[in-house]
Amino acid sequence: MNPKLLIVDDDEEIRTQMKWALNKDYEIFLAEDRTSALAVFDEQKPLVVLLDLGLPPRPGNPEEGFAALSDMLAQQRFSKVIIISGQGEKVNALKAIGAGAYDFLSKPVDVEELKVILKRTFHVAGLERDYRELQQQFQTETFEGMLGTSSQMQLVFNTVRKVATSDAPVLILGESGTGKEMVALGIHRRSARKDGPFVAINCSAIPETLLESELFGHEKGSFTGAHVQRKGRIESAAAGTLFLDEIGELPPLLQVKLLRFLQEGTIERVGGRQEIRVDTRVVSATNVNLEKAIAADKFREDLFYRLAVVVINLPALRERENDIQLVAQEFLRRAAAKSGKEGLTFSPDALRAMMKHHWPGNVRELENRVKRAVIMADGKRLSATDLELTSTAGSYSHTTLREARESLERELVLRALNRSGGKIAPAAIELGISRPTMYELMEKLGVQRPERDTKTVEAHH
Ligand SMILES: Nc1ncnc2c1ncn2[C@@H]1O[C@H](COP(=O)(O)OP(=O)(O)OP(=O)(O)O)[C@@H](O)[C@H]1O
Ligand SMILES: [Mg+2]
Repeated sequence: MNPKLLIVDDDEEIRTQMKWALNKDYEIFLAEDRTSALAVFDEQKPLVVLLDLGLPPRPGNPEEGFAALSDMLAQQRFSKVIIISGQGEKVNALKAIGAGAYDFLSKPVDVEELKVILKRTFHVAGLERDYRELQQQFQTETFEGMLGTSSQMQLVFNTVRKVATSDAPVLILGESGTGKEMVALGIHRRSARKDGPFVAINCSAIPETLLESELFGHEKGSFTGAHVQRKGRIESAAAGTLFLDEIGELPPLLQVKLLRFLQEGTIERVGGRQEIRVDTRVVSATNVNLEKAIAADKFREDLFYRLAVVVINLPALRERENDIQLVAQEFLRRAAAKSGKEGLTFSPDALRAMMKHHWPGNVRELENRVKRAVIMADGKRLSATDLELTSTAGSYSHTTLREARESLERELVLRALNRSGGKIAPAAIELGISRPTMYELMEKLGVQRPERDTKTVEAHH
């Protein structure tokens, strides 16, 4: 059975011509205005639509075509709509791409070019459909709420599984936003202590004078303002897990007290004279280099070894191969579903920008950028601008690898264009990319579209 193609054009001659040319490969449906197009679209659910923008009642104006486009995408957001634009309507065609159209062709349409583009479009649409079906079968897997299919993250998850079964102290190392707290919670939830409390305390957020009492508790009257006896976090976490965040900031005096707890399993409240036995597991984390702190005599080496019985190194996001895209897609799916904007996708330039970005804030930064972009987005695609990733600040300014890649790309693009006599479509086919990608590539590389019928191609910067 041939795949279904809907052709929307108010010009009967064009409809007939196209039907005649494409009949063999596709099951063709024809419509001449928005209403009839939508009726057919709804009933037949074609994967691909050819849409003329100038439709009655105002064929000279693209508004009716734009309305048809947005209605179709609202109904079935995965449909691929190819815009057929009249002479001098390139601006509208590009606007339509921004609104979610897949590609455009200018009139008069070259039948051979049309056939090639349709073939590719159906191919991509089919792949995407298969992918969606697969995705629905295997919901994005998480490990204790954490995403990550990279080998680095799988290693982290495996370590979490193993250490969860013991009571050994764990030290989690990683940059800001890499998920240290999530890992700590994951360890707790997978341990025999899961029904006990998970208590987190950030050692750098509490003034030194309060931190001791916060951690170890105090007896009534032990200092001005200590009107009642109070248990510290170590005691509140009894039978559960204590998460000591930013452990590198723990003042020296408290380092000694914590060391004693780890060695003896007992604490003394501030102003207390009694040793209290507490069964609390300690998981700590830091994003500072503890070895440096030890070398600078700011952190006790003996405490380090007590805390770091098991060390979990969380890789920076930029180092996790494949994770950026997959995690970003999942964040996008979630954020879009939450704000009723299902079907939003990343544009190729957004994906590229994400791959290039340095991600100093790691997964948290990625999540925040995607969430913000979804709120701001009004099209069907998120661009690098929506993600606020257009400036090079904060990303690697350049690397020799990237320069090398770009210069190779430029050379291949120029060669393909030379061979095709400046025609975009055949050059794109030769390079194995879509036409929109070809346009983007040319823009990125600063390759100008050559004049038709001439063979001069120039690069400019
Ligand atoms: N693997 C992950 N999967 C999904 N979300 C994640 C993952 N890692 C981090 N996040 C998200 O990033 C946020 C930050 O994670 P978390 O607080 O655990 O990082 P952190 O390393 O403790 O950061 P900081 O050093 O700033 O305290 C989380 O709230 C979560 O939304
Ligand atoms: Mg944290």
